Amino acid sequence: MDRAKWPAFIGLVLGTVAVTNTAKSTFAFDKTVHSSIATLACSGGAIIGLSRWLPRDGNRTHKGGQYEAVPLAEVGQPHASRDPSPNPEDVTYPSSLRKLRILFLLLVVLLCMRVEVLREVIRNVQCSKASWELVVPIAFAAWDYWTVQRKKRRSTSDDDLDSSVYDALERSMARSPFSCLATVALIVLGCTLATNSLASPTSTFICAAGLPFRWLIPQLQRLGTVLDIAIVFCIHNLLKAQDARGSRNVALRFASVGYAFLSAATLLLFIGIVYYIVQDNDRIWILTIPRHYFWSVLQLDLVVAFTLLCAMVMILQVGIMTTTVLTTFTSIMTLATVSAWVNSHPFPPHSTGTAFLGVSLAILGFMAYFHFETMHQGNGGNNATALFRRVPSAFYLTMLVLFFFWTGLWATSNSKVNYHPIDMLIFEAQRYHHMYLNQTAASTSLAEAVRNYQGRYGQLPPPGFHDWYLYATERNSTVIDDFDSINRDLEAFYAVEPQQLRIRTWEIIANQWNDVAGISIRSGQVTVAPNIMPTHRWMAEGLAEMIGKFAKWLPDMDLAFNLNDECRVSVPYEDITPMRQIVQDQRLRHQEKREGGARSKFSDGRAAQWEPIVEDEAPTSPLEEISWQYSFHRFGSVGCPPNSPARTSRHWDSGSTCTECVYPQSLGAFLSNWTVAADICHQPDLADLHGLYLSPASFKATHELYPIFSQSKAHGFNDILYPSAWNYLEKAKYEPNNDHPDKPFSEKDDTLFWRGATSEGVSQGRGQWRGMARQRFIHLANNVNNSAPPQPLLLPTEKGGKLSYWTLPSSELTNLLKADIHVVDSIARCAGHDCDHQAHEFAPLVPPSDFQHHWSYKFLLDLDGAGFSGRFLPFLQSRSLPFKAALFREWWDDRVTPWAHFVPLDIRGHGFWATVAYFQGLDGKIAGGSMEVKMDAHGQAAERIAEQGREWAEQVLRKEDMEIYFFRLLLEWGRLTDDRRDELGFEVKKG
Ligand SMILES: *[C@@H]1O[C@H](CO)[C@@H](O)[C@H](O)[C@H]1NC(C)=O
Ligand SMILES: *[C@@H]1O[C@H](CO)[C@@H](O)[C@H](O)[C@H]1NC(C)=O
Repeated sequence: MDRAKWPAFIGLVLGTVAVTNTAKSTFAFDKTVHSSIATLACSGGAIIGLSRWLPRDGNRTHKGGQYEAVPLAEVGQPHASRDPSPNPEDVTYPSSLRKLRILFLLLVVLLCMRVEVLREVIRNVQCSKASWELVVPIAFAAWDYWTVQRKKRRSTSDDDLDSSVYDALERSMARSPFSCLATVALIVLGCTLATNSLASPTSTFICAAGLPFRWLIPQLQRLGTVLDIAIVFCIHNLLKAQDARGSRNVALRFASVGYAFLSAATLLLFIGIVYYIVQDNDRIWILTIPRHYFWSVLQLDLVVAFTLLCAMVMILQVGIMTTTVLTTFTSIMTLATVSAWVNSHPFPPHSTGTAFLGVSLAILGFMAYFHFETMHQGNGGNNATALFRRVPSAFYLTMLVLFFFWTGLWATSNSKVNYHPIDMLIFEAQRYHHMYLNQTAASTSLAEAVRNYQGRYGQLPPPGFHDWYLYATERNSTVIDDFDSINRDLEAFYAVEPQQLRIRTWEIIANQWNDVAGISIRSGQVTVAPNIMPTHRWMAEGLAEMIGKFAKWLPDMDLAFNLNDECRVSVPYEDITPMRQIVQDQRLRHQEKREGGARSKFSDGRAAQWEPIVEDEAPTSPLEEISWQYSFHRFGSVGCPPNSPARTSRHWDSGSTCTECVYPQSLGAFLSNWTVAADICHQPDLADLHGLYLSPASFKATHELYPIFSQSKAHGFNDILYPSAWNYLEKAKYEPNNDHPDKPFSEKDDTLFWRGATSEGVSQGRGQWRGMARQRFIHLANNVNNSAPPQPLLLPTEKGGKLSYWTLPSSELTNLLKADIHVVDSIARCAGHDCDHQAHEFAPLVPPSDFQHHWSYKFLLDLDGAGFSGRFLPFLQSRSLPFKAALFREWWDDRVTPWAHFVPLDIRGHGFWATVAYFQGLDGKIAGGSMEVKMDAHGQAAERIAEQGREWAEQVLRKEDMEIYFFRLLLEWGRLTDDRRDELGFEVKKG
């Protein structure tokens, strides 16, 4: 067996690194019990499998004697022979079969309990506190001290005659019964320091004050640690146990642990079947296990089983303590090093110095541990249980490399910021806006507009382009050339035949269940299809009114408008990418080919090509109903590349902010790139942070490219964006009056204001509300019962005008800064307990206020609802400064520049207070009153953005601009649905 020591050692180290990294982003915790059963079964199988390879001859293995000679054995035997006490600690006393059975059963029960505890903790992981797992090695060290070292001391004689003081000291330290305990304590102290100072910032996912989980989960975590200790203890005892004749062979001992794992898996499976059989959802789920879940669990199972095997061999070879120390050290170093490497920015605020100190202590302790252990064994004359007979230089070298790597990290880390990121973002935004202006209306004539169109989109403009141009210029449109968003939305549809597009439109609008309104254009007249729900008629009529303005230039066609807030069409990346490719190739070919001139008129007889809608004949719907269900992996992320984090990894720890997800769009704690922020592909954590993904209210969607026009969409959806009728009809109107005037900015109240409903998604009793963006912001701003997580502020330091991040408790933030953010009336879209829980958490619910009341405040918050927020345009038109956090994007997204026209916020909310602080300024004491801070308000910057946004809205977001956008969009759509679309095009006649 000794030959197995080195492979097992290397396997354990590598396996621990792999498990640590795999577990961080596994899908396994989506179904903790299912995954645990799989893992237990897999590990049990592997252990039993291995046991068949092990020597079965008890005598031979016994003669080898290596694994018997654990520290425990050394004391146990003589002690037992003198006084055969039935002391339960005395595990090496020849165990009776009965004792083994008890151990076996105990292990099975403990494993089952551990799984249940794990499940409870994972379900409310946002309430978890720092882990107690580091106690495990301490527990074993203490146990070792108690059972072995304390007694051993008496038996060792002081017979060194070494001259060197250093040697003597070293030897006496090594021989001290505390040496082991002390080095393990040093390692654990170091690891604790490192993990605590590198912990990810707490996320804004709500750990509700009114629910018991705040105290329950940390208790369960502790219970979990105790169970872990007990489980390892049982495994150890089963492995070490000998039968009455002391020759219980290794294979049998291994197998017994394996059977314990299998029995636990079976028991859980049995309980699971009885429990789940009553639940519909789970039955369906088990039949349609998602692929990503399956592979993720399989991967985890394999690495866990492998690591466990190595660990068991190691326990046999070098004892339980060395194994736990090794595992703990490896996994913490992996976590800390990866975290320090990824997060080497001033934000999130880490104390790299403390982490470095911790790592250094841990390395020191780790080296001392093995050094002493080696010496110890050398003296004792039995070196079998030491990992090393002589500590190899490769070991010291590895530790040295780790140490120098950390020295480098520490030396290059920088916690100070030279300038406020917002200063820079505002400056950059101006530049960006000017760049936009420079290219958005470069054309001054129709001929130039056509040329620019061709340059941008690689084809001729659609027929009727001259009418559009006239329409736009007559209304002084600022935007003439830049309609990239139309191109983005429509491009892929060129891969679908016109005939097919018409059929798909009909399929969608002919069935009322789809919640899609049909609108027909015939000879310049707009009619709304009769089969629309009365509650949504206003919308279709608003659309008809808007289209009516320019319908006389449009070809005959039918259009399908999404009546729900949620977007609909999510084509998988694997399907949509080739489609886009085809289109680009086609355009290249056509451009070369079309020398003979294009047809400048839509085909005749288009009206007859659209199938009529008959009210009582409904085709089967191509849409799938997923309202009230978790939708991220089924519909949210399928548009992302298959290897992107959104599809391959799961940020299951909703209690921590995913810093890797935040960096690409951030400058410090602040949102720097609105476009990148919309891209969910690098943001797997959004799965739990928005109502659309957690539990949408009315979500009927498809994976096929159906032509559906929607008012807003999240990234990855293929709906066609159009200007919302809500805004066109001014359902929420900027209309200050005498009672509610829109005063100059400086005279307004300095508060950030929001009123609204919990309408983002439906929380039907499974606590989904705790992740929804609206709820999270409300929770953050009100800090109910002190339950909001601490948040960062960027504050000036005393010297040199530099700034640094401080993480402050929310109670201090709510004192220092002003926000008035409340739910109106009652809790909407909830069922079961969730209504009461929310009402309790968000109390007091306030009476609704007049919409015009908003203008009394300097800062207005805008948050997504179930779709886009209908208030943003009026907010922009006002003299107040809008703050916006959103997942959804609308038709105007290219035109409006964040930080130039409004203040963008990350949907996670971690930069919320820091951004508010920049504009409001603050003056007060922090850190429990021990430190005075003062930051000037950036009132001028705020006013400038508010003013610029207002002017810009009057320029490019007028009702006329909506018509112009829509007109151009529908001309394009007219061409797309024309059988001769490849020949169509508008050209300026020469001469
Ligand atoms: C505007 O664009 C033109 C080319 O289209 C370029 O030559 C010019 O430098 C740009 N101006 C600014 C201010 O970016
Ligand atoms: C945001 O990032 C994209 C892609 O990296 C880039 O093209 C764009 O210019 C950036 N926008 C701003 C405002 O910096």
